[in-house]
Amino acid sequence: MSLTQFDAGTLFSGNASGTMINGYDTPSEYTPALDPFYVFHGSSRDVIVWLLMQHPEPLYLCGPTSAGKSSLVRQIAARLNYPVFEATGHDRLEFPDLVGHLSVQNGTMVFQDGPLTMAMKQGGIFLFNEADLCSPATLAGLNTILDGSPLCIAENGGELVVPDPMFRFIVTANTNGNSDDTGLYQGVVRQNLAFMDRFMVVEMGYPTPEVERDLLDRMFPQLTSEVTAKMVEFANDVRRNFMGNSTSSTAHDALEVTFSTRALLRWARLAIAFQPLAQKGISPILYALDRALGFRATATSRTALHEMAQRTFPAAVNMAEPKTNH
Ligand SMILES: Nc1ncnc2c1ncn2[C@@H]1O[C@H](COP(=O)(O)OP(=O)(O)O)[C@@H](O)[C@H]1O
Ligand SMILES: [Mg+2]
Repeated sequence: MSLTQFDAGTLFSGNASGTMINGYDTPSEYTPALDPFYVFHGSSRDVIVWLLMQHPEPLYLCGPTSAGKSSLVRQIAARLNYPVFEATGHDRLEFPDLVGHLSVQNGTMVFQDGPLTMAMKQGGIFLFNEADLCSPATLAGLNTILDGSPLCIAENGGELVVPDPMFRFIVTANTNGNSDDTGLYQGVVRQNLAFMDRFMVVEMGYPTPEVERDLLDRMFPQLTSEVTAKMVEFANDVRRNFMGNSTSSTAHDALEVTFSTRALLRWARLAIAFQPLAQKGISPILYALDRALGFRATATSRTALHEMAQRTFPAAVNMAEPKTNH
């Protein structure tokens, strides 16, 4: 695995741009699998520009749940053959979970590198998901690494890990470090200002309707484009009425659930799986909606979702195309 350069345009938009981006010539065992359906949309640009920089500050990628933050990083990495080392934040996460710890192997104590150490040594991306669930005191321990300094591992006899020039540090989180006033993202913690100040921050929303329609059409050719367009329209209706969305957070009838891209894909998958119900006069689309999202909502919100769905899918009985004979 050695360093190489790719044309960023060819890789991410299909048109050569002459802008070269660093990557590796072959994937490592830590390079994420490539998702052929992944669409690089508007939010990707900031992350790609960040990767083009020689010594970028760490990146903080924030946005609503399942908008595609982690998958964006993994899919960029997959195309650059970049190894990715991941950790997920939680309130009991401690520094050794990231750096490594001593363990017994064949009767002797050996130090096992954690994901951060491995990324620093192997020139990979350290992808720290949901970091805002961690205690700010724990994260403060990362400040010197965020500044680009080497890591000194006391538990391993003071081993000094000098970051490889290809090492990159990315955090994903639902909040921008200022906690969450809706209470929907249970467990997030307001972060320390000194920690937050070390990042370039990129805000990422759900993909545009065009991108989501394109995604659904390519992933689920069994659904007509009329149906997928309505599903995307419905998802955006739900997002507008979501209480986590600042414009509707004061509305008394705001929904406490929202349609993530993940839930939208689940809805489409279930609508196809439940297609046989159409013969019994049950709408697979509405049936799948409850299982993809509705059953997670409060009774009031579920009723609201059903009313919205009746408006969007007035004749939702059998809207999937008949199966082709084989
Ligand atoms: N642009 C996109 N193209 C294809 N799939 C996407 C896209 N954005 C999100 N997804 C899908 O949505 C799901 C949630 O994405 P994820 O990256 O886990 O979200 P997050 O990290 O923001 O919570 C994944 O299964 C991913 O494949
Ligand atoms: Mg994620």
